[in-house]
Amino acid sequence: EKNQYILGIETSCDETAVAIVKDGHEIIANIVASQIESHKRFGGVVPEIASRHHVEQITIVIEEAMRVAELQFSDIDAIAVTEGPGLVGALLIGVNAAKALSFAHGIPLVGIHHIAGHIYANRLIKEMEFPLLSLVVSGGHTELVYMKEHGHFEVIGETRDDAAGEAYDKVARTLKMPYPGGPHIDRLAAVGSPIIDLPRAWLEEGSYDFSFSGLKSAVINTVHNAEQRGEVISPEDLAASFQQSVIDVLVTKTVRAAKQYSVKQVLLAGGVAANKGLRSALEREFAANEGVELIIPPLSLCTDNAAMIAAAGSVMYEKGQRSDFTLNANPGLDL
Ligand code: KG4
Ligand code: ZN
Repeated sequence: EKNQYILGIETSCDETAVAIVKDGHEIIANIVASQIESHKRFGGVVPEIASRHHVEQITIVIEEAMRVAELQFSDIDAIAVTEGPGLVGALLIGVNAAKALSFAHGIPLVGIHHIAGHIYANRLIKEMEFPLLSLVVSGGHTELVYMKEHGHFEVIGETRDDAAGEAYDKVARTLKMPYPGGPHIDRLAAVGSPIIDLPRAWLEEGSYDFSFSGLKSAVINTVHNAEQRGEVISPEDLAASFQQSVIDVLVTKTVRAAKQYSVKQVLLAGGVAANKGLRSALEREFAANEGVELIIPPLSLCTDNAAMIAAAGSVMYEKGQRSDFTLNANPGLDL
């Protein structure tokens, strides 16, 4: 039988990424052109700069992926592209590149939700078994997603204010760490002790929603109060305390939801899934939780990439999902 090759394109934020995935599982090429250096001095992603970089990079990155894969466009079964959510001007570059390739080579087009991509990064590691639960933690999202089958996404809990990654980035900024702050806080936390008392937002009994803005404010207040009193706070201890608070809530709610929904697998997804503290806390928790398999992608598949978009595209293509040339960037797309 003929192999299936899906070309994935992801430009929703600050990475211009193109990948080719074979038969839904195997990464043949995975190119990520990061713009982090250009955004660093602004302390966050500048949308206009992101778009300009995507325009400059997209053709080069597509060509590089095809070269690495040693394939012709006639070998590609479908083009999967992130249609949203994300920065509209950034998404547009990927969507238009995908439409141009689709038109020029007569290749079917499949629009993919960015979060579906993050979840399907796990399928590059292990076949999915349903029902499953995915904890999606990124710079823009914090969600618990229940899946009964491929392509079915039920958001059972989400953040009511900041995303987990956003809280990491803001706390890092308070500690005068560069953007993106998550990896820096993670590194500090590993050598600090969680001895500073910070809040945990459990919300109403039984709720799977999250809230991180109170925690973020508590960290900022702790730093300001110490400054005013002329005291020195250990950044390591503060990072460890903040991280412990985030992890406690994420892990407790994930374990409870996994039980309530009797899932076979728990998948970790999104940029914050790269967090070492979170990974080991979940591993500890689910090691003892027999019957539930925990899947955690390698770091390179947690942060934005196009292999995850191709992996989701493979499944959606097989399910018969197609987009036409009216496909547009949708910054507020629902899962
Ligand atoms: O998924 P992603 O690459 O982009 C979005 O779709 O948002 O996630 C980026 C987020 C940033 O907020 C970054 O600080 C965070 O993921 N992040 C981390 C770590 N590595 C990246 N947060 C905590 N610990 C990390 N090791
Ligand atoms: Zn992402």
